[in-house]
Amino acid sequence: MRDEDKSREQLLKELIELRKNIVANSIQNRLKEEYRKVKESEERYHNLFHDSNDAILVHDLNGQILDVNRKLLVLFGFDRADILTIRISDLVDSAEQDKYRVALQKLTSDGSASFEIYFKKKNGESFPAEVSSSMIEFGGKKVIQGIVRNISERKQTEEEFKKYRKHLEDFVAQRNDQLEAANKELESFAYSVSHDLRAPLRAMEGFASALLEDYAERLDSAGQDYARRVVSAAQHMDTLIQDLLAYSRLSRSALKPSAVSLDGVLGEVMHQFSPDIQQTGAQIRVERPLPEVMGDHATLVQVFSNLLSNAIKFVEPGVKPRIKIWAEEKNGKIRLWVEDTGIGIAPEYYDRIFGIFERLQGVETYPGTGVGLAIVKKGLERMGGQAGVESMPGKGSRFWVELRTKGF
Ligand SMILES: Nc1ncnc2c1ncn2[C@@H]1O[C@H](COP(=O)(O)OP(=O)(O)O)[C@@H](O)[C@H]1O
Ligand SMILES: [Mg+2]
Repeated sequence: MRDEDKSREQLLKELIELRKNIVANSIQNRLKEEYRKVKESEERYHNLFHDSNDAILVHDLNGQILDVNRKLLVLFGFDRADILTIRISDLVDSAEQDKYRVALQKLTSDGSASFEIYFKKKNGESFPAEVSSSMIEFGGKKVIQGIVRNISERKQTEEEFKKYRKHLEDFVAQRNDQLEAANKELESFAYSVSHDLRAPLRAMEGFASALLEDYAERLDSAGQDYARRVVSAAQHMDTLIQDLLAYSRLSRSALKPSAVSLDGVLGEVMHQFSPDIQQTGAQIRVERPLPEVMGDHATLVQVFSNLLSNAIKFVEPGVKPRIKIWAEEKNGKIRLWVEDTGIGIAPEYYDRIFGIFERLQGVETYPGTGVGLAIVKKGLERMGGQAGVESMPGKGSRFWVELRTKGF
């Protein structure tokens, strides 16, 4: 071989060697890089797993425990070496084994499952836990990772809450019984008031009237005046009792509102008042058609009887009452107005007049018992509505009641 050829061959060898080195070096570098990455991600997983605030365990599809984190060891009171020799079912409370099997089935079919179960610590103590499990791939094998949360405190709060609820329910039931008994008592009281009190009252009125009719000539004018006063006092007391009865009937049970035609209610009330309307020459204008509202027919008749009787009654002597009735709809509510041109009311009395027995005038000037507006207020409350007034002395009054529109 010539020298020249030899050196070329040498050069080629060196070149090949060099290339090998380069390739090997780059492979090595890549491997190093890969290794670093794997190491890093493993560390990250390790940290995530072991330093997690939740107790985590990994087991295979047969239930054999493969790995647990520190928190889980603390929770169950096991050593790492011990726990890796047992199965997950050994950690489940013996009374909950069936429940656990069902959860495991769901887990293997769906890929994940969350459930509550009672576990057992190494010292035999059992505790409630919330488990959230999912199937994951681990070294090419399917395994199950479960996150276990001790929910003793939550359970205890729930138990306490249940106890309080039961206590409250018992209390309410007892109170209901008492109320029902009180209602019955009130009912029989109202019944005896209407029968037993009104009977002697009628006797008083009857005999005083008889005195005026049959013995008038034997009484002087003072005697006749006294007898007349007995008659009118007895009559007043009779209306008072009747109004009280109406009020007490109203204040008892709550009403279940249904759709009521206000045209129907007003028709009935106007008919009932036709003698008074004729006698006073009252002009009443109703802007029909009035809408339907959610309420109770009989209660609404009572409410509008009282509003209309007031509107007819509270006028200056000799003045013919002029009354206007109309409805207004707003935001699913109906406001019904009863407007008069009567004596009016000062603003400081707007609330007071709705109280029972509250009256602003003497019985001599304007007869009455002071129960009417209390009935209006109570009736509206029972139907889930409201009532109020706008007025000025000498300028007339506008009473309103507000109820839900039909269908609301
Ligand atoms: N339309 C009205 N105009 C003026 N005052 C009224 C009117 N309606 C009620 N009032 C006042 O409110 C009081 C209470 O009314 P209410 O409870 O119906 O009792 P009563 O009609 O028996 O007096 C009345 O005594 C009167 O002073
Ligand atoms: Mg009245």
